Order: sequence, then structure tokens, then C-alpha cells
Amino acid sequence: MDKWNRELLDKYCREYSVGIVGFVSPSEETLVGAQLRDFPLFVHTNLRLRDASLNPGSSVLRLTRAGETAWGALPGDDWAVFQHNHSTYEPVEWAQRNTQEYPADSVGQVQLPLTTVLQDRGQLDGIQRVLFGSSLRFWLHRLVFLDALSYLSHGQLSLSLERMILVDIDDIFVGEKSTRLRPDDVRALIATQKIIAGMVPGFRFNLGFSGKYYHHGTREENLGDDFLLQNVQEFNWFSHMWKHQQPHLYDNLTLLMAEMQLNYAFAKEHNIPTNSGYSISPHHSGVYPAHELLYMAWKQVWNVKVTSTEEYPHLRPARLRRGFIHRNIMVLPRQTCGLFTHTMYIDRYPGGRDKLDESIQGGELFQTIVYNPINIFMTHMSNYGSDRLALYTFQSVIKFLQCWTNLKLASAPPIQLAEMYFHLHPEEVDPVWGNPCDDARHKKIWSKTKNCDSLPKFLVIGPQKTGTTALYTFLSMHGSVASNIPSPDTFEEVQFFNGNNYYRGLDWYMDFFPSETLPNTSSPMPTAVGTPRYMFEKSATYFDGEAVPKRAHALLPHAKIVTILISPAKRAYSWYQHQRAHGDVIANNYSFYQVITASDSAPRALKDLRNRCLNPGKYAQHLEHWLAYYPAQQLHIIDGEQLRLNPIDVMNELQRFLKIQPLLDYSNHLRYDVKKGFYCQAVSEKRNKCLGKSKGRQYPQMDERSAKLLQRYYLNHNTALVKLLKKLGSRPIPQWLKDDLSTGT
Ligand code: A3P
Repeated sequence: MDKWNRELLDKYCREYSVGIVGFVSPSEETLVGAQLRDFPLFVHTNLRLRDASLNPGSSVLRLTRAGETAWGALPGDDWAVFQHNHSTYEPVEWAQRNTQEYPADSVGQVQLPLTTVLQDRGQLDGIQRVLFGSSLRFWLHRLVFLDALSYLSHGQLSLSLERMILVDIDDIFVGEKSTRLRPDDVRALIATQKIIAGMVPGFRFNLGFSGKYYHHGTREENLGDDFLLQNVQEFNWFSHMWKHQQPHLYDNLTLLMAEMQLNYAFAKEHNIPTNSGYSISPHHSGVYPAHELLYMAWKQVWNVKVTSTEEYPHLRPARLRRGFIHRNIMVLPRQTCGLFTHTMYIDRYPGGRDKLDESIQGGELFQTIVYNPINIFMTHMSNYGSDRLALYTFQSVIKFLQCWTNLKLASAPPIQLAEMYFHLHPEEVDPVWGNPCDDARHKKIWSKTKNCDSLPKFLVIGPQKTGTTALYTFLSMHGSVASNIPSPDTFEEVQFFNGNNYYRGLDWYMDFFPSETLPNTSSPMPTAVGTPRYMFEKSATYFDGEAVPKRAHALLPHAKIVTILISPAKRAYSWYQHQRAHGDVIANNYSFYQVITASDSAPRALKDLRNRCLNPGKYAQHLEHWLAYYPAQQLHIIDGEQLRLNPIDVMNELQRFLKIQPLLDYSNHLRYDVKKGFYCQAVSEKRNKCLGKSKGRQYPQMDERSAKLLQRYYLNHNTALVKLLKKLGSRPIPQWLKDDLSTGT
């Protein structure tokens, strides 16, 4: 970094009390006692080290337990160590030269022990630092790094030290013959549970069962089943069943519930508690992508309040797994511990015992618990039979955590964990539905009866009053284009991505786009039954809906987005007239001028109307929001005046943009209707079919005062729109925009 930038950065850090975390980056050149800037601090690089110890007196360490030593060689041969001689410096971690591997004379000047992580209290230049002599490859440095962030941010970047752990054991009674628990395994389970509960208050294994396969093992394993049930009170239990691979069950609520009721009856018969409010489906199917019938059946049969999945939004990367709440069921992210149904013997563990131990001793499993305040682990019955790898894994990782961290481990039933989780992450409550066809695993666990043809290929997003109905009607004339079936609530518009319909879930949305297509009888170009259609949806409120671009993109990342723009002043006035015609009391009691000039202290209903008149017209701002999610090539902007005056060219251009085949020549199908004053569908040589009375209304011209005011009001927004259109390139500036700007200046 050059001197000037360096000084700026230092000034910033001093002024705002911002600390610096530094890493000495590995380099080919070996430094021996090189001084760091003007500080009484020297580095030696490219060393091999061993035995890292944490300074028991370090004030940086919080999560990391001070005073321990990680014995053995440290990873890599490019370590840097710090030599210092001032009270501003305090070692956080030391190590020893790895003399077996590294000849002593080449680092002769370096004093022992060698400082590998160093705290600078900032006495010399007013900036606090924590410097690492190596990358984060060494597992212990990941902990120290978290502590450095917490220390230097004065506690702002830190999590509480509480960690909750729940271990689910799926497939109880389900495992294949010879992979199930025998009475001795159950005894070991109870004994280990006791040991873990000594370290993790409240810990109990959480057993997911399906009674359908009870007594399906060997003689010894059937005794194991019985022994589990004799000790039913020792554990927590949850229902873990339903045949997701069988479409007749999957898509029939009554059958699905009947199957669940069987498991419920089994639980009752064997005194298994049925009130945990938790359930898991095999392979997580139906949880995400959400299958509405599963949620309904769960609620009705088991009163499920919590479930968990590894699949939201995706299995990988695990650190990005999140939760959501759907139909009042809290869905928590679930973690894996590296054990799966087939991992039963240590000598067959993928990568061998070292791999499992690495994960436990500072590796993936250990870090998972360090990073996640609430951990729900998935294991299977088979992990507790044979070599009982799960018992070894959890007991060991918990011991390791106790040895190396100050984390306070505890456990609680799922409902409590879920409440804690959403208290910690209120921003995750709302789901964001992704596209199941963009994730091979999601596609696999989806119902065989669902498919991505039941999703639109493009969206007409509005805004309202720009000619969206005309565009919708013209598009629907095309035999290869089909819109959603009408919504009973909102007529032609589904309004899914906006507002509460989104919470009805993806199944609800897809029902509007049936994949078996009927011939489009209103089309002048009939197509055969079953011809694939270019599906679209028009909801004119999408344009300015706050949450819409993000939600639409999550589900339809490849969709094309079509918007129509007219003069925002004209749009506002049309909306006002629309409200008057619909008998809106406010619109009928206040003049347009009164509405658009209503102050913030005006009655709420008046302010709402004002906002709905004015806000959608801030076009640039809304378009930028869409462009934050969709690339410009997927966005098509229609000049609404052109749509009104010259719809034939507009429709031809739109067909080319959407790559719709075959092209419909609209010049044969649209005709100007003198009486209506608009273009209409030419249904026969003499007869036109126009839009209804509510489109293309007759109303007096906007008053001069309002027109002037709106030109001023939209000046900045319109200027921004011109800029945006120029930036997007190859998009003409509409005449109305030029006019609005010329009179506005
Ligand atoms: P007005 O009724 O204020 O004139 P939307 O369908 O988005 O609600 O937009 C309604 C507007 O579409 C009408 O507003 C009208 O000006 C415009 N429009 C454009 N082409 C039209 C057409 N062919 N027939 C009727 N209205 C059309």
C-alpha cells in the first residue's frame, strides 16, 4: 500500500477506533529479523513450527480457552514469527521451532518461544492490532481470529458463548436388517447420553421413529427394538415417516394423513410421547421445496410446530443454510456431522479414521459448533450400532470443545430451540422460495407430479395504469403464449410475489400454470392440444413492490421482465381517476391536486392514496431495484405511448425479445377503433373487441396546477431515468420523457 493510502487508513482507524487484523502473507523471500515499518517489531518468515500454546494472560482470548497447547507439528512451512521489544506488544500464541525438520542454525537469531500471533495495544500509534504469523489454515487460528474480531470491534462482532446442541437419530426401527441396534447398543446409547448430559446440560438423544418397520431386524435386533421401547422415557422422540416416493400418497392428503395416523397409533400403543411438536421427513422431502400437503398433514395429525432441513436454501455450502417459517411451522437449518446411513465401521469411514478425527479435533464438525449458536445434527440409527461411530463422534467433539473453548454447551427440546433461533434471526422468518429445478437434489425430492413447466417464462410487472391490460390481452391472442388461469381473489392477476399470497407457497403459485394446455380458443392462431406454451404472468403491482425483485429472482432467475412506462404524471392521474371510478371515498372527496399535495400529517387514507399515485412513478429507482437482481438483457421496457398509438410494432418487437415462435403478425389482428379511441382486437372484418369500460376512460384533462407540480416533482426521477436508459444502451428515450423534462426545467 502506498504511503498516502496507508496514512489515510491509519487516520481512519485512529479516528473511529477501528482495529486491524493482519496476516503476514507467505512469500518466496525468507526474511530474517526484518523490521516492520518504524516499529520495534521484527519478523522472521518461512519457518516450520510445532506446539502452539495460547497465552493464559491474553486479553484477546474470549471464545478460545487460554493456556492450552496444541502439540505436534503445525501445518505448513511458511510460518512467520514476531520478535518484539515494547510493552505495546503482547503475544497471543507462541510456538516452538520444529527442530526435527528445520536445522537450528538457520533461525539462530530467533529467541524461543516464538510469537506466532501478536497483539499490539496501540501504544505507539493509537491503532490496536492482532497480527497472525500464518493463515487460517491452522484450525486454532480460526478461533483466535473470531476472538480478534470480537476484541478489536469492542464486542460488536461477536456471538454469545452459548451453543445449543441437538442430536437427531433418524430411522429408528427403519434401518435394514443387520444395521440395527441390539440391546447392547441401546445400553451404550443410554450410558453415553449420561456422559454427554454431564457436559451438555439437558442433553438427550432425539429419536425419529417409524413404527411400520418395528421388529424388522434379526432376532437380536428385534430384542434391541424392545429394549428401546422399555427405555422409552430415557429419550426424546419424534415421528419420522411418510412415503415421499409414492405419488399416490404424496399427493393425497387423506392417504398421507392415514399413514401418519398409523405411526401416531404405534406411538400411543408403546407409550412413546407424541407431544414433541417436531417431525422430520425422510430425505427432508416436502420440507423444502415445500409440499403444502405435508405441512397440512403434519399440523393435523401431529400438531407439528418445528422441523428441520439441510436443504434450505441449498445443501451446500453448509454455512449458508438458513431457517424459515411456513404455515406456522418453524423450519430450522440442520447440520451434518460427517456420518451417514452407510458409515457404520471406522475402517470403512471415507478417508479413514484420521479424517473423522480431523473433523472432530478442530475440523469441520468442531467448527460447525463454534460458528452456529444452534446446532441440530442429523444421524441415523445405523451410526449407533456396529462401531457406534456417532457415540464416539459426539462424545469426542464435546470433550474437544470443552478443552479448547469457553463455549457454554447446552441442549433443549426442538420447540425451545426454534424459538431461540428465530429470536436470534428474525430476518429469516420469511421464506424465499427458490426454483426446485435449479438444484438437482431439490428436483429429486420433489413430487414426481410437479415440474418446472408450471412456472412462467416472463413477467409483466407493470406499473399499474400504463397499459398492462392491453398488453396482457394482446399477448393472450398469441397461440403459443399463455397467461396464468384467472385468480379468484385478484381476477387476472395472481400477485404472488407481492404481499401475503407469497406465504401460500410455491404449490399455490404453480396451480395457476397447469402444464397440460388446452387450445387457446380466443387466439386467432389456434394450436393443437398439448403444444407447449410460453407462460407468463402479469401483476401490475410487481413493479414497485419492495420484496418482489428478490423473490421473483429467487424463483425465476432466467425469466424475462417486461415493464411499460408512460409519463409518471399521467400515470398518477390515471390511477386517481381509476380510484374515483371504483368509488374510493377519498378520491371522490379530494381533488387530484389535494391528493398529490397531501402532507405527512394528513389522514392516513389520504396519504395512502397520495403514495399510490406518486410512488410507482419514480421509475428509475424501481428499475434500479430490479436491475440489482436481473441482468439488463432480461429486462424489456415498453414505451406505453407507443403501445397505445402503435401496438403492432410494439408487439412485434416484444415477440422478438421474448423469442416467441412462431411470430404473430399483429397487423392482421389489431385495428384502431374510432369509437373507443384505442387499438382493439379485430375479431372479424367489421367487428372489434375492445377492452372494457375501465380501460381508456373518459375524464377531464389534468388541471394546469397539478401538471406543473408533477413535472417539478418528477424532474429528478425523470432525469435519473434518462441516465439509466442511456446506461442500459440501445434503448430510445421516449418522447413523453423528453416532453416532461423540457417543460419541467
Ligand atoms: P386510462 O383508462 O386512464 O386511459 P392498465 O391496464 O395498466 O390499468 O392501464 C390502463 C390504461 O391503458 C388506460 O388508462 C389507457 O390509457 C391505456 N391503454 C393503452 N392501450 C390501450 C388499449 N388498447 N385499450 C385501452 N386502454 C389502453
